[in-house]
Amino acid sequence: MSTLFDLSGRTALVTGSARGIGFALAQGLANAGAAVILNGTRADTVAEAVARMDAQGFAATGRAFDVTNEHAVADAFAQWDHDGVHIDILINNAGIQFRKPLVELELSDWQRVIDTNLTSAFIVSKEAAKRMIARGSGGKIVNIGSLTSEGARATVGAYTAAKGGIKMLTRAMSAEWAASNIQANAIGPGYILTDMNQALIENAAFDAWVKSSNPSQRWGKPEELVGTAVYLSSSASSYVNGQIIYVDGGWLAVL
Ligand SMILES: NC(=O)c1ccc[n+]([C@@H]2O[C@H](COP(=O)([O-])OP(=O)(O)OC[C@H]3O[C@@H](n4cnc5c(N)ncnc54)[C@H](OP(=O)(O)O)[C@@H]3O)[C@@H](O)[C@H]2O)c1
Repeated sequence: MSTLFDLSGRTALVTGSARGIGFALAQGLANAGAAVILNGTRADTVAEAVARMDAQGFAATGRAFDVTNEHAVADAFAQWDHDGVHIDILINNAGIQFRKPLVELELSDWQRVIDTNLTSAFIVSKEAAKRMIARGSGGKIVNIGSLTSEGARATVGAYTAAKGGIKMLTRAMSAEWAASNIQANAIGPGYILTDMNQALIENAAFDAWVKSSNPSQRWGKPEELVGTAVYLSSSASSYVNGQIIYVDGGWLAVL
């Protein structure tokens, strides 16, 4: 049983892991034995996150790059190739939110949200998967979806389209890569207490709506996503492919 979820000897890249859900997932994978590579857009905050992991006794390194920039992503993988670092587990977590009604949304903002939340998963996974396929040792890809992978809400149209796309991109990855022993799955978090939601957490009406709509009657915590991430990163999920697991306190289960 203990080996089922053991990530010892594996290296995991978690995008957008300088803070929030990504940092919690990085800590969780490290706790399960993985060597973790942290990422974000800023070298200083990535270095601070690596230092926090080091202080906890975890094996962590970091590399700042923009996941929407295919050249920056290619450079990062080329450096890891040079250093003999192989990514066994990829968590596509980097994301942004931007709230505006569709009729007021500028194309540039639509594009930025789609690029960061959806296209980035294609860019980073392409680099990771072609190396996993060439090594012949399989691998794990975990994409981060959302409740909006299933349902829409006003003012987050681009985010909803991107996270719906994440669900189908995950299936497309499975269709192409399952035969190479790569399991690609997704996690759909409910409303989680992070910086991304700070304005909503402080909005009494929204806070009350979250608590009254969710059968668990509360927001989720980033660390509550760790169990599912470790499961989907480990041999325990060796025949699970193309799925999205909602970690939402039961939100999608009720009317
Ligand atoms: N919080 C929720 O309730 C919730 C619910 C469902 C899904 N999610 C998803 O979970 C993921 C993490 O969300 P979160 O709440 O933890 O967000 P967060 O606290 O705002 O953190 C986002 C992280 O993504 C990084 N990032 C953003 N754009 C990037 C880019 N272009 N390149 C590299 N890194 C980038 C940020 O880096 P910097 O620190 O450098 O800015 C940061 O580390 C996102 O995909 C989000 O859509 C969140």
